[in-house]
Order: sequence, then C-alpha cells, then structure tokens
Amino acid sequence: MTHLTIEPSILYVGTPVELLSTENSDGTFNLAAMSSAWALGEVVVLGLGDNGQTAENLRHRPELVINFPAPDLWENVERIAGFTGRDPVPAAKQDRFRYEPAKFEAAGLTPIQSELVRPPRVAECPLQFEAGCVRGQAVPLPQVRSADNALVRREVLGKDGGPASWRNPLSKLSHPKPEGVAPGNGYSHVVTGPGRWVAIAGQVSLDADGELVGEGDPEAQAKQVFANLGRCLAAAGATFADVVKLNFYVTDIAFLPAVRTARDKHIDTTNPPASTAVQVVSLFRPEALIEIEAYAVAAD
Ligand SMILES: Cc1cc2nc3c(=O)[nH]c(=O)nc-3n(C[C@H](O)[C@H](O)[C@H](O)COP(=O)(O)O)c2cc1C
Repeated sequence: MTHLTIEPSILYVGTPVELLSTENSDGTFNLAAMSSAWALGEVVVLGLGDNGQTAENLRHRPELVINFPAPDLWENVERIAGFTGRDPVPAAKQDRFRYEPAKFEAAGLTPIQSELVRPPRVAECPLQFEAGCVRGQAVPLPQVRSADNALVRREVLGKDGGPASWRNPLSKLSHPKPEGVAPGNGYSHVVTGPGRWVAIAGQVSLDADGELVGEGDPEAQAKQVFANLGRCLAAAGATFADVVKLNFYVTDIAFLPAVRTARDKHIDTTNPPASTAVQVVSLFRPEALIEIEAYAVAAD
C-alpha cells in the first residue's frame, strides 16, 4: 500500500460535488461533475479521471472554473452524470456514459463570462473559483482508485475579492510598519517574505489576440490588466496573495481610482502590496491608458 504524507495537512475536505468548466479545442466549453476535491490553502487538489474531456482540456488549456453548486442544484448535476464531453467515449466508459457536447444546456445551467479565465462560470453556483492548472500529474493511487486516475493541483486565482482577499493561512509574507514613515493610504510601505522570486512585465489592456480592450475606458482597461496579471501569476504557480509590489504607470493620475478598484478585487486590502504610481507621457500605444507590473514571492 502506498502511503502519502502531505504538507500542509488538509484544511478543508470540500463539498460533495463541484462542477468543473473547461475549454474544448473548438472554443466551446465542457462541464463535468466531480467530488474528489481538497483545498490546501489556496491550492485545490482534484482527483480527476485521466480519460475524461476535462482532463484532456486541462492538458492543453490549463484554465478552469471550480463551481460549487448549492444543494438545490442536485438535479442539474444529475442530468449530466451519465455524460462525457469526450468523443469517442473512452472504452472504459462506454457501458455507462454517452457523448454530450453541450453539457451546460443538458444540465440546464447558465454559463457566464469569467473575469480571469476563458472557461465560463456557472451562474447558478453561489461559489466559483476561477483557477489555473499549475500541475497535472498522473499518480497511481491503488488503494483509492484505479491506476489511471490523476492527482491534479489547481491554483485558485479568485474573483470578487475571492481567495486573495481571504486571509491566506499559508502566506509567509509580512508587512512591517517602518518607524517614522507616515502610513500608506491603501498600500504597504514594506512587504517581505521567503519564496521564489517572480517578476511580471508591465501588463496592458490586451486580450489573448493582442487587441486592446476598453479603448478610452480606464475602468475596463484596469480590469483587463489585472486579469492579465492573474494569468501571468498563474503561469509561475503564484497568486495575487503572493504579490509584494505593484508599479502603476498611468497616462493620467486621475485613473488611479479605477486602478485601485480593479486591484481591490484581487488583493488582500488589509495587507496590500507595496506600490508605486506614476503618470507617464505615453504608453506603448496612444490608446493604452494603464500599465501595471508586479513582483511576487511564491511558495516553493
Ligand atoms: C456526483 C459526481 C461526482 C463525481 N466525482 C468524480 C471525481 O471525483 N473524479 C472524477 O474523475 N470523476 C468524477 N465523476 C465522474 C465524471 O463526472 C465523469 O467521468 C464525466 O464523464 C466527466 O466528464 P468529461 O469526460 O466531460 O470530463 C463524478 C460524477 C458525479 C455525478
């Protein structure tokens, strides 16, 4: 028997079922029920079958939303219990599952656009974690399940002030208050802590195709910039909770409230990152109003 000791020990066992939304290769979205999820601080560990469409999607497009249905949605979950988004249906599933490409519709659930990731959230689910897959690894767990199951780690990025605004019990960052320096208004003067150093280039309001989002609209640009910062952090296995410093470059200092509003959806406002804000003559394109770079120290 294999014995796995994990650190930190499990903080929360999870809910009986989650709905994972992921992106298919043709740009449509898949939805799958699963129950084997454990939250370890800000990392969610998913016990996910390796032969499903969800696992296939995550191998190629490592973004997802972990949606937590309330008990009254049990019938919606049941409606897709016998479906897979995988075509053809894997041999091991052929006796129990049939292919269904439109699982949101089949479940009677509503996809709504996510803020940080491409797969949509499930509107009816009261709790949704927009997440990036930081490690997907097939692990034989003979004492628990068949050998083709995967132990998959998912880094939660958070939304609506999500995990980043929850106190992270694993955070090793500290925010010492320097003597003789007037307190910052909504930022920390000093942030320090151990970990892997992550430097993120100045992000601007571009979408995945390099098209500018929110021309003339500082709120929309700030939102998109933070979404891009979230994607960059996830690529390094980090989250906004690991950010120690943000540098804001704006073409008009009057955009700072918009920047702050977008920032506060992602960071812990009780222990905010250090920051610098400067007005600049212009950014890389005349339509770009805001550029933000970040520095983080992520868990090893
Ligand atoms: C309540 C419930 C819990 C489930 N839990 C898991 C699970 O923990 N891990 C898993 O791999 N599949 C689980 N499944 C099965 C998947 O939903 C099923 O394999 C489905 O076909 C996956 O869809 P996909 O192939 O489109 O990704 C569960 C299904 C239900 C209805």
